[in-house]
Amino acid sequence: MKREPLYEGKAKRVYATENPHEYVVEYKDDATAFNGVKRAQILGKGAVNNAITAHLFPQLEAAGIPTHFIERLSDTEQRVRAVTIVPVEVIVRNVAAGSFSKRLGVEEGTPLARPVVEYCYKSDALGDPLINRDTAVALGWASEEDLGRIRELALRVRDFLTPYFAARGIRLIDFKLEFGKTPGGQVVLADEISPDTCRFWDAATGEKLDKDRFRRDLGGVEEAYAEMLRRVTSEAEGG
Ligand code: C5P
Repeated sequence: MKREPLYEGKAKRVYATENPHEYVVEYKDDATAFNGVKRAQILGKGAVNNAITAHLFPQLEAAGIPTHFIERLSDTEQRVRAVTIVPVEVIVRNVAAGSFSKRLGVEEGTPLARPVVEYCYKSDALGDPLINRDTAVALGWASEEDLGRIRELALRVRDFLTPYFAARGIRLIDFKLEFGKTPGGQVVLADEISPDTCRFWDAATGEKLDKDRFRRDLGGVEEAYAEMLRRVTSEAEGG
């Protein structure tokens, strides 16, 4: 099934398979922050992120958002469509936090009057710098048309996930998405949706249940990831 590794990122490895149209993605326990300056293992993180992504992507697909996901293969592996990743990371924000709060001097937790979509250049060497859509087109990373589609899909992901998490006692503060292109030119949601790539705050207590526990040395990292898997796979409350 799995053949040679094609790409190793900070949290995942991508393998070729005997089928040229499919890859296997392996989720690792490795965690990095501040552009790789801080490194550690979060026990069980790979399995949690694989399970959460495998739970959400088919539901997004059913909601009309095309994704690269095919199936979960094991605790830490999933089968996906082979796509070329667009080197533009898309951040969607419901509430001010993180780099947005820092850059603009807006207190963390300030609700935003409308969702904000930001774009970053996917480059470990440069620390994923903020860009705009003109930059991405000018440097040939994506077409205007693809970026329009990416923004539309990112907002649809937000419209699906925000009430999904709210029904499970979680405020979705912000999240990062990546998109890929199929050989046929279709833009599809790729990568993962997990506590590594989202900010999740407990709706009742405000407790952070995401990678900020690792970034900010808050402790209880493994417990927060396990709790998010439990919430994601639980039934909606009050309904
Ligand atoms: O750090 P910042 O506030 O820009 O992060 C916004 C959101 O994007 C957070 O949920 C964070 O976990 C995610 N993110 C990510 N990968 C990056 C940068 C941010 O998953 N390289």
